[in-house]
Amino acid sequence: MAVPEKVLTNQDLEKMVDTTNEWILSRTGIRERRIVNESQSTSSLGIEAALKALDVANLKPGELDLIICATSSPEYIFPATASLIQDRIGANKAGAFDLLAACTGFVYGLNMAAQAIRSGSIKRALVVGAESLTRYVNWEDRNTCILFGDGAGAFVLEASQEPGGVLSSVLRSDGSGSELLTIPASGSKNPATEATVRAGLHYIYMEGKEVFRFATRVMAQSTREALAMAGLTLDDVQWIIPHQANYRIIETAARGLKMPLDRFVINVERYGNTSTASIPIAACEAIEDGRVKVGDKIVFVGFGGGLTWASLVAEWTGPSAPRKKVDPRRYRVWARLRSLLRRVLRFFEGIIWGRNA
Ligand code: UT7
Repeated sequence: MAVPEKVLTNQDLEKMVDTTNEWILSRTGIRERRIVNESQSTSSLGIEAALKALDVANLKPGELDLIICATSSPEYIFPATASLIQDRIGANKAGAFDLLAACTGFVYGLNMAAQAIRSGSIKRALVVGAESLTRYVNWEDRNTCILFGDGAGAFVLEASQEPGGVLSSVLRSDGSGSELLTIPASGSKNPATEATVRAGLHYIYMEGKEVFRFATRVMAQSTREALAMAGLTLDDVQWIIPHQANYRIIETAARGLKMPLDRFVINVERYGNTSTASIPIAACEAIEDGRVKVGDKIVFVGFGGGLTWASLVAEWTGPSAPRKKVDPRRYRVWARLRSLLRRVLRFFEGIIWGRNA
C-alpha cells in the first residue's frame, strides 16, 4: 500500500466548510484522510504500491503478464493509468488496462485477473487500486469533501496448483442509479467547457442518503451469494474486508449478516473513502499486523458509483507478513532510466523515419 504523507483532519475541514469534527465522526467514523501533494498522482501512488507488492511476492516486474489498474481518478481518459504504471515499474512483458467500476473496481479487477490466470492465458497479474480522488473534490461542498482521501493498494496474483486463492465472486451493476454518484462533466457526454467548470460539474456529485441505502442493502446480500457459490457459510469466514466508505454502512452490514463487527477490517477512521484503494489498503494493514493469516477465508465486498457492487471470497495463500523491509527505490531508478532510454530511442527513430520519408 501507499498513502500520501499529507494528513487532512476533521479539524482542518472545520476551517474550510460549515462542519464539525463531531458531525463527521458520528455520521461517518472518519477522523482524517490523506491528500496528494502537487508532485503526487494516481500513478505515482500506484507505482509505489505495485513495487512493494512485487517485492513481497518476490517477483521482478518483467515477470508480470498483466496489469489491471482499477481507478475512479485516472490520470487521463487515455492513456490508461495502468500503462503509466507498467512503464515506470519496468513491466516490459505485461499488458495493461484501466478498469472503471468506481469504488467496486478493485474487487472486479481481482476477479478478472484470477479468471485470466485460471483460463491458462497468463501466469501472473498485478491488480492495483489507486486514487487521487481529492483532485475531483469540491472543497466547498460539505456533503462530499469530508469523505474522500487518496491512496493506493496492490495485489500480485499468481497461478498455483495449491488450493486456495479466489474461490468465488459475484459482480453486479444497476445503471439506473448512475446519477446518484457521478462526475457530471468532462467525459464525452459533457466535455469540459468554461460553462461546465463554472457550474462545478467537474466535481464529484453524490446523493449520499440514496447511496447509503443502496450500500447497506447490497453488502449483506452479495456476501451471502458469493459464499453460497463457494459452498461456504459465514461460520467458515475469518474476515470480511469491506469498502471503507462509512463506519455506519459497515455496522449496518454486520447487523444484516449477524456477524460481530470485530470480524470486519475497518480503517475508515484514518483514510476516509479511498475508493478502489480502500479494500487493498485495509487488507494490507490486516496482513501486516497479523490479523489475516495464511489459510484464512476472507470476503472482499465493495460498492459504489455505477451503481456497482461485488463480493469475492478468497482463501488467503499469500505471505502473512512482509518478507523483508521493502525499498522500492532500486526498481524506481531502473524503471525511470529504462523509460527515459525508450523515449530517447523513439526520438531518434522519429528523426531517422523523418529523413527517410
Ligand atoms: O464510495 C461510495 C460511496 N459513497 C458512500 O458510501 C456515501 C454514502 N452516504 C453517506 O455516507 C452519508 O449519507 C453521508 C455521510 C454522506 C451523509 O450522512 P447522512 O446521515 O445521510 O446525512 P444527510 O445527508 O441526511 O444530512 C443530514 C444533515 C443535513 O442537514 P438538514 O437538512 O438536516 O438540516 C445536511 O445538510 O446534515 C447536514 N450535513 C452536514 N452537517 C455538518 C451534511 N453534510 C454535513 C457536514 N457537516 N459535513
